[in-house]
Amino acid sequence: MVYMRYYTKISYFIHNRLQRYNKKTTYARKKCFLFAYMQIFLYLCTVMKKHFFFPLLAVVLIGTSCSQRASKSDAEMDRFINRLMAQMTLAEKLGQLNLPVSGDIVTGQVRESNVAQDIRQGRVGGLFNIKGAEAIREVQRIAVEESRLGIPLLFGMDVIHGYETVFPIPLALACSWDMEAIERSAQIAAAEATADGICWTFSPMVDICHDGRWGRISEGSGEDPYLGSRAAEAMVHGYQGASLADPTTMMACVKHFALYGAVEAGREYNNVYLDDYHMFNEYLPPYQAAINAGAGSVMAAFNTVHGVPSTGNRWLLTDLLRTRWGFQGFVVSDYCGLEQLQDHGVCASLEQAAIQSLDAGLDMDMVSNGLNGTLAQAVREGRCSAKAVDQACRRILEAKYKLGLFDDPYRYCDAERREQVILSPAHRAEARRIASECMVLLKNDNHLLPLKKQGTIALIGPLADTRTNMPGTWSVAAVPERYKTIKEGLESALAGTGARLLYAKGANVCYDAELEARATMFGREMRDPRSAASMRAEALRIARQADVIIATMGEASEMSGESASLVHIEMPDAQHDLLVELARLGKPIILVHFAGRPTVLNWETEHLQAILEAWFSGSETADALADILFGEANPSGHLCVQLPRHVGQYPFSYRQMRTSRLNPGGEFNKYSTCYLDVSNTPLYPFGYGLSYTSFAYSPVTLSADTMTLNGQVTASVTVTNTGSRTGSEVVQLYIGDPVAQGVRPYKELRGFERLTLAPGESRELSFTLNADRLGYYDPYQLHWTLEAGEIAVMIGPNARDTQERKLMVGEAR
Ligand code: NOJ
Repeated sequence: MVYMRYYTKISYFIHNRLQRYNKKTTYARKKCFLFAYMQIFLYLCTVMKKHFFFPLLAVVLIGTSCSQRASKSDAEMDRFINRLMAQMTLAEKLGQLNLPVSGDIVTGQVRESNVAQDIRQGRVGGLFNIKGAEAIREVQRIAVEESRLGIPLLFGMDVIHGYETVFPIPLALACSWDMEAIERSAQIAAAEATADGICWTFSPMVDICHDGRWGRISEGSGEDPYLGSRAAEAMVHGYQGASLADPTTMMACVKHFALYGAVEAGREYNNVYLDDYHMFNEYLPPYQAAINAGAGSVMAAFNTVHGVPSTGNRWLLTDLLRTRWGFQGFVVSDYCGLEQLQDHGVCASLEQAAIQSLDAGLDMDMVSNGLNGTLAQAVREGRCSAKAVDQACRRILEAKYKLGLFDDPYRYCDAERREQVILSPAHRAEARRIASECMVLLKNDNHLLPLKKQGTIALIGPLADTRTNMPGTWSVAAVPERYKTIKEGLESALAGTGARLLYAKGANVCYDAELEARATMFGREMRDPRSAASMRAEALRIARQADVIIATMGEASEMSGESASLVHIEMPDAQHDLLVELARLGKPIILVHFAGRPTVLNWETEHLQAILEAWFSGSETADALADILFGEANPSGHLCVQLPRHVGQYPFSYRQMRTSRLNPGGEFNKYSTCYLDVSNTPLYPFGYGLSYTSFAYSPVTLSADTMTLNGQVTASVTVTNTGSRTGSEVVQLYIGDPVAQGVRPYKELRGFERLTLAPGESRELSFTLNADRLGYYDPYQLHWTLEAGEIAVMIGPNARDTQERKLMVGEAR
């Protein structure tokens, strides 16, 4: 009887472990089971007192059966792939490494090729940028029914922040600091994309960036490695769910490996110059976090690392990624990344580029057709290893196996599910809620917001009545005709109230028609042919009649994203001039600002009463914005990048390293690190964001002032909602290590919690401080380490306004 009870408890425990196990990578699985065994052993020892023999036996038996279960499917997969590969010719193996582009969606230079013919000949492993279950089903049919071995194709797409239901751009998503929301957005993206034929997304993009000039900062989670790592994990979990065998999940592809966000001068496709110490501490953590979360694939970056392009960089793709981090999935190049080894000047021919890339650890070649096109002869003549080809081919086949494509190659083309899930009311409702969490209230003098639904409101600006801009860059599956413009969103929010909404465009995005055309290269915006003067006159006439002005201004959506670097990151000239005229009317102005990057808002901060950073918030932007403006939702976004005072401050991050001539305050101080003309401080700090309510922080307390190197201390704070509305606050934990072997930042984020409080409600939050939380990669061995000495523990609502306590870390006991 007593044994029966133990048995039930143990079975339940193992069941739980197995559930968690399925979500983990091989490395994490080992850890998970080791931990499980230890816990079972201790439990049995406790309940069975001195009878050690039985617990030991039980643990051994359980362990053996679990590890058999764990490896069974891997063994089946190996057998299946061995059998398949035994039938494959060298040409067919190389075909698996080939990823051509379909041409339906343009995300790079279009290449003419006869893809259908190549597929029939077994010369294609996957296809990307093709949209629609019917089209995908037909291409899959060719692969499965008309090629010799009938190997199904992978179908990839840049599903970056949603599919047809579009979520805020990733930079905005990270401003929610809401990891459940980020995971949910990826889960919905996967549910929609997989019903429409896609099983592989080129996301998450986890490149840390300290430079707002780089247009692709829009596509990542901002400047901080800790926040970026948490967002990366959330996205991988959202896309891949508990198992890739579930047809509503898709394989993630972590990109751009590595360091793409550090391109020199923020100029797209430029090189990167970073030492290992900064790589490990600032730029690499989010890639590693995504891999530890189980991401099935990785995309090599365009840029160099240590002077060698990532696509052909063995240190990066093998030594670091596979040997040090234990990555088991496959690596794909970026668009033409392989052939560009020639442009970089490290290879003289496509064949040489293919040999170098394969040897470096690349498995799949996007668009260049170098692996498939040149390696057969190189293998035959001994210039390239057949074993390396086999290994890459095996990794691609493994991905297809895990995705269930060998069981049912059409499992992702589900017409019925497509009808039910894509752009469903439930998905749109979630996107609307999440969008309102991402907008950041920067300024709100005299509680101008939220607005009452009364009086006359003037809606002015080139972004008020555009349907195509709101989803934001990298929304390749968007269907803008089904989304609302801001004007429509506000009209429906005000319908049936006494309020009157007047509208005028007021200005084009910028004076320079050519720049505007470049910034809207996919024809997403129509330039108004009227003169700037007449547009402005109309806007001023409308504004004079209003009680309050809502100015919807900023960048067009394609002014950020790929190939959209800028050196002017202020309000575009035509809109700035209009704002100056509007401000002269003396009416209250709310700037609803659109951008895919941090921008300079000095003039606006000085002259306008309220500023809401709306980024590009996806298909539901209009309704989410109305929710915020009229108080249905309370702003809770916090910046994941600090906003500069001047573009000349870049590269720029709150994680400022200590320097030889310290200047933490940032104002001019002769012979310290600063500029003559601009302070070192940001205009709005990292982590900053206002609410319609207010929060008070109690003094921060530590459970002890000292800690051993392997010990643990708790930092606590109580947060109270002191206003009259329910609201959400993001409580942030920063640390500083004033004396360490390697130079450390004054402050770096090491924890956060988002909490929602009713008026008058208080909650105590605690952060555990230990070596995991407080350590860093040392500059000599690059090992995670915590050194003895003082640690500053700081808690607050943003990186500027923190309270500090000191913790002494001593030798290990
Ligand atoms: C190039 C981009 O750098 C990458 O992020 C994207 O996934 C590919 N093109 C495919 O569209």
